[in-house]
Amino acid sequence: MPECKYCSDILASSMSENDNKQTNPSWGGRFSEQTDAFVEAFTASVEFDQRIYKQDITGSKAHARMLHRVGVLSAADCEAILNGLDRIIEEIEAGEFAWSVTREDVHMNIEARLTELIGDAGKRLHTGRSRNDQVATDIRLYLREQITVIIAQLVDLQKGLLDLAEAEANTIMPGFTHLQVAQPVTFGHHMMAWFEMLQRDATRMSDCVVRMNVSPLGAAALAGTSYPIDRDFTATELGFSAPAANSLDAVSDRDFALEFCAVAAILMTHLSRMAEEMVMWSSAQFDFIGLPDRYCTGSSIMPQKKNPDVPELVRGKTGRVNGNLISLLTLMKSQPLAYNKDNQEDKEPLFDTIDTVIASLRAYADMVPALKCKRENMYRAAKQGFSTATDLADYLVRKGLPFRDAHEVVGKAVAYGVTTNKDLSEMAIGELKVFADIIDEDVFDVLTLEGSVAARDHVGGTAPEQVRKAIAQARKNLVNP
Ligand code: ARG
Repeated sequence: MPECKYCSDILASSMSENDNKQTNPSWGGRFSEQTDAFVEAFTASVEFDQRIYKQDITGSKAHARMLHRVGVLSAADCEAILNGLDRIIEEIEAGEFAWSVTREDVHMNIEARLTELIGDAGKRLHTGRSRNDQVATDIRLYLREQITVIIAQLVDLQKGLLDLAEAEANTIMPGFTHLQVAQPVTFGHHMMAWFEMLQRDATRMSDCVVRMNVSPLGAAALAGTSYPIDRDFTATELGFSAPAANSLDAVSDRDFALEFCAVAAILMTHLSRMAEEMVMWSSAQFDFIGLPDRYCTGSSIMPQKKNPDVPELVRGKTGRVNGNLISLLTLMKSQPLAYNKDNQEDKEPLFDTIDTVIASLRAYADMVPALKCKRENMYRAAKQGFSTATDLADYLVRKGLPFRDAHEVVGKAVAYGVTTNKDLSEMAIGELKVFADIIDEDVFDVLTLEGSVAARDHVGGTAPEQVRKAIAQARKNLVNP
């Protein structure tokens, strides 16, 4: 048999567990031969779904309480189940729980252990329930929790950006389009652009919880159940806003996970754009910022190197998060209703997305506020590339010239500057007047970098006063995780 991940350790352990049993204890009633050991390992998800043990137990407790409330489960059985599940949490957290592939997934591992601990009462827990509504509930509970963590991290990073923006509200740098110097902006303004990107990510994260937060419990396998269940009770117990409206939909769709992965892909795309700028700005060619040493690494051959590995890795990890979104979309595409085993494949891309986003945000929340601005270098760079050319055109418009004509005049002045190697602000008044006689001494007020940024004094503009106002407003708009 060829070597593969299913044929090594897992197989060996499940084979030995198989030795003394006939068919699967959870569903083997209608089977006449025991599951092939390879198939057992191939179909198991316990290796990766054990991370939702807490949510599985929370869901089971709510279900047990509900069964007791509607008279399906006795008080004694309910109590035994609740205590047994508490004990299982302790065992898992103490690392004493014996996870087994033979028991396929997190749900059956926990249920089997419960029955070992409390006997027949454990076998009654699954009344009126299926793993299909159970797993759909667990993932929603888990993802809801993780999104809260992600939003809190986003807000942390945003607060760091606001502090940095405030400290650098007057710092002038070149603004770029097409990566060519365009117009001067303030570094604070640039940080606030990053802030806004993340603000939309945070609100998208909290929006997707609204649609996710309904309870599949009670949908059972697909059609609902014949027991007199109280779905509102379990929904409320678990903090869901309502029971999911349709049982087939509740067990089959994973659009809530897709939506999260899409939101995460957009967030990572934003982080990758920030990464790209940090990598460029910290290069010797730009030299606008210094990254903290603790976030960089050296080269084993070139002693002078300080590499921006962390932003580069975040940029790289954006690829896997985008890939996870595509995996999930492809997984769900064309699946007939309702639950299919395909859905078990939802977890790894989802969990990987969560882990990657959390790690990337953690790195940024610490690294970004610690960026060292090299103000003189930014200022010098802003003076190159005729960054105040638009200001000169606007000046001419204020003196009565139509904008298109002003554009033409300034274009000629820039061409002259290119041949004489002079910035507009370095030309004498006589030189400027050659291009338009209406140019007077007051032109130098608008040709300075300070004058240029101060003139963009409206909501959303780069003037330091506007940046300060934007920061104050942003502090009020932070999303509450
Ligand atoms: N481990 C399964 C999953 O993650 C649980 C649901 C199994 N349901 C079933 N009918 N086989 O999707």
